[in-house]
Amino acid sequence: MFKKSHTSPYLVRFLVITLMGAFFLLQGCQISSPAEPDDKEHAGNAMIIPEILEDQSADPDTASFELFVQQGEMEFFPGRTTETLGYNGNYLGPIIPVRRGQEVNVSVHNQLGEPTTVHWHGMDISGEADGGPHQPIMPGEVWEPNFTIDQPAATLWYHPHLHGTTGPQVYSGLAGLIYIEDDVSDRLNLPKDYGINDIPLILQDRNFNSDGSFSYQLDRMGLVPGDTMLINGTVDPYVEVNAEKVRLRILNGSNFENFNLQLSDGSSFYQIASDGGFLESPVARDSLFITPGERMEVIVDFSTATTDTEIALMAGEHPVLQFYVLDSEGANTEIPESLAVIPEISAGDDSPTRVFELQSMGLRGTINGKSFNMNRIDEEVNQNETEIWIIRNSRSMMHSSGHPFHVHGTQFQVISRNGNPPPPEERGFKDTIHVDPGEEVIIVVRFNHTGLYMYHCHMLEHEDYGMMGQFMVQ
Ligand code: C2O
Ligand code: CU
Ligand code: CU
Repeated sequence: MFKKSHTSPYLVRFLVITLMGAFFLLQGCQISSPAEPDDKEHAGNAMIIPEILEDQSADPDTASFELFVQQGEMEFFPGRTTETLGYNGNYLGPIIPVRRGQEVNVSVHNQLGEPTTVHWHGMDISGEADGGPHQPIMPGEVWEPNFTIDQPAATLWYHPHLHGTTGPQVYSGLAGLIYIEDDVSDRLNLPKDYGINDIPLILQDRNFNSDGSFSYQLDRMGLVPGDTMLINGTVDPYVEVNAEKVRLRILNGSNFENFNLQLSDGSSFYQIASDGGFLESPVARDSLFITPGERMEVIVDFSTATTDTEIALMAGEHPVLQFYVLDSEGANTEIPESLAVIPEISAGDDSPTRVFELQSMGLRGTINGKSFNMNRIDEEVNQNETEIWIIRNSRSMMHSSGHPFHVHGTQFQVISRNGNPPPPEERGFKDTIHVDPGEEVIIVVRFNHTGLYMYHCHMLEHEDYGMMGQFMVQ
């Protein structure tokens, strides 16, 4: 899928040594041994690390933020300008840092020439503050939601959700991360130096036209897969790490593509969190299948790596992020044996049960045979009542695909996948769950707030083309 012009660091070193050799020979010098150059010239581009948004409140119990939705420009490829959208910048947005218990106020200024919304994906908040299709922000207007953080430490994200244009707006650059911290995350001795050993990775596949503009192309099958991977908006990125444990907070921020992530040497790493926060204990993994909208946090242990270690993050067959290990030790952190206690959402025999049948044919999909209608409420749910949701992806139709099913306003738990208990990495809080053709996933869910919310496939073109429903919590 990815065309990579990947220059290996060995090749670069070879060229550097050869050029230095030629230079010294011309100077009449003899080089006795081709000494290892102190090579800071890495192939590719230093990965962009998003900024952390400043909390403008002096009171630790509240947080206030200002977000500007704006147009921008990036030079993803030297000499070619790409018109983009971003929050408080050219592309993507800053990390929004909040703590459990905080009351959060945000002012979202829409400086675009078109309406947008800002949805807080994964947040357990009221329908009014959720930022779905019913809260459009018109050009020049300001939206000021406020909500209280009442959920565990987690990596959530924010993105537009205007019905019909979510896909194109996200593709142009509108997305950012939210970090929730709490007493549990404070207490754990995890890597937490932002940008040093606690690193966000927003993965997005993209296509470009020859003039540098994004090529957002739909065909009968959906969105045309990108041939270029961006991580945090960087083409062909590398990141330097100390010889220490490094936590990667991974978001599949692409519109339509799943990724299968691995380390190039096949070594394993530990998954410590899923969408809604920490797992009970770290789970050893050697690959991650991550669908659009999902987050996974992992720890990769570089503590025995050296400057000679060659290691990259792979998406399928393609290296997408090169790691360079520095000659420095870093912090003394750990992969704790236990991370968090996850309170079980328990359902009873009399818990209401709903079925969601996912069907798709190429670009178009339905849920329970229906296409999205903003004026129709598909489900009515009681606040604080535990429910069982059965999500089925029927295999029957041609061109069927797997779907990441996402529910707003809550974090749910998986009871079973195809009749079996979920694997350990699916036993934490989730807000997006992949369901393959022929599969049935059963979740237990409860809504702590009231309002109107969405459930949908998080392949954004499926969502834009109607694979979404809405439910009212009262
Ligand atoms: Cu990430 Cu309905 O959204
Ligand atoms: Cu959401
Ligand atoms: Cu889908």
